[in-house]
Amino acid sequence: MIDMKLVLIGAPGAGKGTQGSALVERYNIVRISTGDILREAVAKETELGKQVKDIIAVGGLVSDEIIIAIVKERIKQDDCANGFILDGFPRTQVQAQKFEKMVEIDKAIYIEVPDELLLDRLTARQTCLRCGSTYNRIHKPSKKKGFCDVCHNKLVQRSDDTIESGVKRIQTFHDQSETLVTFYQEKGLLVKVDGTESISEITNAIIKGLEQ
Ligand code: AP5
Repeated sequence: MIDMKLVLIGAPGAGKGTQGSALVERYNIVRISTGDILREAVAKETELGKQVKDIIAVGGLVSDEIIIAIVKERIKQDDCANGFILDGFPRTQVQAQKFEKMVEIDKAIYIEVPDELLLDRLTARQTCLRCGSTYNRIHKPSKKKGFCDVCHNKLVQRSDDTIESGVKRIQTFHDQSETLVTFYQEKGLLVKVDGTESISEITNAIIKGLEQ
């Protein structure tokens, strides 16, 4: 399949990054994580990074204006020629409505996970800040403890993967992002999967939903 444009919706810890990476291989498309772009800006201490650092750490949302500008530029780049999967965007009604005017997507994938599983996943997550790979101390450990399988960089815990920030992010999802499930369902674009299954079972369910 060529030129596939997808968006991933799910609460923090639902598995957007995990499944997004699996779909990159399957469809030869690029994964665009607005969270990764923002974290890179924070790590490099750019103007954008300085603006968003505290917002991310406490689990708030960066302004629609900033995020939309980032995505608009990013999807114009050459590596998006075969399509893309957006991980973490759109996240508000305003973002979804503006994005709709920018590009026509093929499907929106919603990974549904009950709140009680999310915090455990978030607080056990380990992240590679160099290549963006994610692991989990319990569910998906790296081969060499504490180091990335892909680029061998040291794994870290994200500054927002604390219980306090996690609780706030989950609430923010319910308040501002969950409404997007209905938004895409009404357009006949929604593929909804049970995110409590194993990682590979969820990948298979998504592929089935996309290809049926
Ligand atoms: P972002 O980086 O997008 O974070 P998030 O939405 O909170 O999502 P996460 O990355 O925490 O979770 P995920 O669903 O990707 O789960 P993962 O696959 O890693 O955003 C960070 C911040 O940036 C936001 O809070 C906001 O401030 C800002 N931001 C970003 N986009 C924005 C936007 N559009 N507008 C405004 N602000 C924005 O999995 C989690 C863990 O669980 C991993 O350890 C994984 O190994 C494990 N796992 C995954 N699947 C399974 C499974 N099936 N079973 C067991 N374990 C699993």
